[in-house]
Amino acid sequence: MIWRLAASAARLLPPEAAHVAAVKTLQANIGPRPHVPSLPVSLAGLDFANPLGVAAGFDKNAACYKGAMGLGFGHVEVGTITPLAQPGNPKPRVFRLSKDAAVINRYGFNSQGMEVAAANLARVRDYTGILGVNVGANKTSPNPTDDYRVAVACLARFADYVTLNISSPNTPGLRDLQTQQHLAALLDAARTGMQEAGVTRPLFLKIAPDLEQADLELIVDHCVSAGVHGIIATNTTISRPDSLRDRQASQTGGLSGQPLFTMATDILSRIVQLGKGRIGVIGVGGVAHGWQAYAKILVGADLVQLYSGLALDGPLIASRILHELAILLDKDGVSTVGAICGTIPDPQAAIRHAFRCAQTG
Ligand SMILES: Cc1cc2nc3c(=O)[nH]c(=O)nc-3n(C[C@H](O)[C@H](O)[C@H](O)COP(=O)(O)O)c2cc1C
Repeated sequence: MIWRLAASAARLLPPEAAHVAAVKTLQANIGPRPHVPSLPVSLAGLDFANPLGVAAGFDKNAACYKGAMGLGFGHVEVGTITPLAQPGNPKPRVFRLSKDAAVINRYGFNSQGMEVAAANLARVRDYTGILGVNVGANKTSPNPTDDYRVAVACLARFADYVTLNISSPNTPGLRDLQTQQHLAALLDAARTGMQEAGVTRPLFLKIAPDLEQADLELIVDHCVSAGVHGIIATNTTISRPDSLRDRQASQTGGLSGQPLFTMATDILSRIVQLGKGRIGVIGVGGVAHGWQAYAKILVGADLVQLYSGLALDGPLIASRILHELAILLDKDGVSTVGAICGTIPDPQAAIRHAFRCAQTG
């Protein structure tokens, strides 16, 4: 009850102030500590207590991942962390679209930089989940590809896995790294960074939902041949679906939350088809209910992440989704996430099945 009230109170604050308050609260280890169902999954040699994680952008400076894991999430992806500190775009730069259960942000990688993040990561080691570290390039970097090497070299040793974020719409030129010309150099840079750090960690690549089929084919091919362990689909979209009703819908930035769900699930399914089991797939975009996480798993997601749902619904969301997910697995007569993963490759059919399953008693 108290956490529902806290979530309602946070909605009275401007979105960035609410975000800062949430990070500080979790950093102080204050928050609900729900019991969540055990739904173990494995990916890239890592064992996750459950498939649900916090997507990047919430714990940008690795300040509160231990507290966030305590909410029931099986993993937390911190970042995006850039090599040098940078302020990001002028405020206001985050907008709630309450009528659409959505968020638009143009934070622009506000980051305290990798040294601060490394110090935070070195200090807090007694967490109980899988820790992902998501890295990106500085806005004014003369050599963005090299920024990934530098950040990976500094941060990989603290991470269970490393994500290269090349899909934020808020850093000019960043998404060009998704093209053939740049991708090989980018993946090389990350490998070099790990060699410099003297560690090997599973490598994930996070992509945009606004890519054409030809781009997706190229990205999956490159990732498979370069030994990338997973593709995270997707980041926020620069598109604006006609369905949007909130007056904030015309703000510049990346759109996330409910309006992204179908689009991101569609891209996810195409990545699964192209990957043919050769690469892990992490589904993100518009997950706020157990059936939405379930739909992504039915399509073939090994893991599911969310951010907007946490911002809009509050800290009990992990526990609610995981309980709903356990019930859905039970209704379909399976006892593990792995048993149902990828069994309905068509995204529309998967969404329909998951939704109907959630409606039936
Ligand atoms: C306010 C905000 C900030 C974000 N910052 C980042 C970021 O720094 N790095 C990143 O990879 N993704 C970032 N994202 C994207 C999310 O990780 C996620 O991919 C996207 O929001 C879709 O998931 P959702 O609908 O559950 O929010 C951000 C999203 C939001 C809403």
